[in-house]
Amino acid sequence: ARITLRQLLDHAAEYGYGVPAFNINNMEQGLAVVEAAAMVDSPVILQASRGARAYANDLILAKMIEALIEIYPHIPICMHQDHGNNESTCLTAIQHGFTSVMMDGSLKADGKTPADFDYNVDITRRVVDFAHWVGASVEGELGVLGSLETGMGEAEDGHGAEGELSHDQLLTNPEQAVEFVKATRVDALAIAMGTSHGAYKFSRKPDGAILAMNIIEDIHRRLPTMHLVMHGSSSVPQELQDIFNEYGGVMPQTWGVPIEEILRGIKFGVRKVNIDTDCRLAMSGAIRKVFQENPGEFDPRKYLKPAKEAMRALCKLRFEQFGTAGMA
Ligand code: G3H
Ligand code: 13P
Ligand code: NA
Ligand code: ZN
Repeated sequence: ARITLRQLLDHAAEYGYGVPAFNINNMEQGLAVVEAAAMVDSPVILQASRGARAYANDLILAKMIEALIEIYPHIPICMHQDHGNNESTCLTAIQHGFTSVMMDGSLKADGKTPADFDYNVDITRRVVDFAHWVGASVEGELGVLGSLETGMGEAEDGHGAEGELSHDQLLTNPEQAVEFVKATRVDALAIAMGTSHGAYKFSRKPDGAILAMNIIEDIHRRLPTMHLVMHGSSSVPQELQDIFNEYGGVMPQTWGVPIEEILRGIKFGVRKVNIDTDCRLAMSGAIRKVFQENPGEFDPRKYLKPAKEAMRALCKLRFEQFGTAGMA
């Protein structure tokens, strides 16, 4: 069944679990998430970026979601716009059956220039106004994602934001978070606490100085009923790096967000955990393995099926780890 983000995260808060939000761009990724959910009886959040919508076509995405809902009627499915950049992106997502949108006003509409607080409040409030008229949910973001190691803020596409950012801009200000939520009435709040998008988050296993989990605890104390969202939450597992590299890929050693840190977040109000990189890596490693072991293979099903299965295994593991399994 189709479900809104608000309905799903209210349930997650009541029962104390987190929900991974997986990015999808095609049929294999959509099937991977929902097949994994069906295996462990988990509700799901599927999310599409602007890039995903352009890649797959809005109508194909919309009809695919409809099909997944029909194939798995017992699985609650939320379809969410990831990193909406303006009102139009959010409105057209809702027109295509998305039940939830992220209005990311932490960046200007170009998706790379850090925006000021008033811009963010204004545009997010406008999206909340129309989304709530039709029962769709809204996620806002306060604070620019980026690395506390390098001081580099980041754009929505994982490339560097304009200029170097101060420590303050890279961490959500808890006092401002209270003001933002009150002024916008968002259903969920994405916060910045040292994670970034993509595979290269940390140059070593993150400690408290480069992954500021204490920000989450502070915000949760001030906003105990707000659903918090962690972006850039791939763990970039060593095994997946190893498979990718073993079969001819080139990925210098890197570290993601440890699962135990995500679980700590879930204890303190984190309900939505965004994961894209881990899925990409799982699929690409599986495809590399097929090509390396059988260079003559040219039937796409022969490499897309293992790719789907690798992503499915990753999704199933996250459902189990975050306590989402069994909650459908
Ligand atoms: O926000 C970043 C997500 O991983 C989506 O990435 O914009 O390349 O589709 P994308
Ligand atoms: P990762 O790059 O860590 O998977 O983050 C994805 C994300 O935050 C999508 O919005
Ligand atoms: Na999002
Ligand atoms: Zn994100």
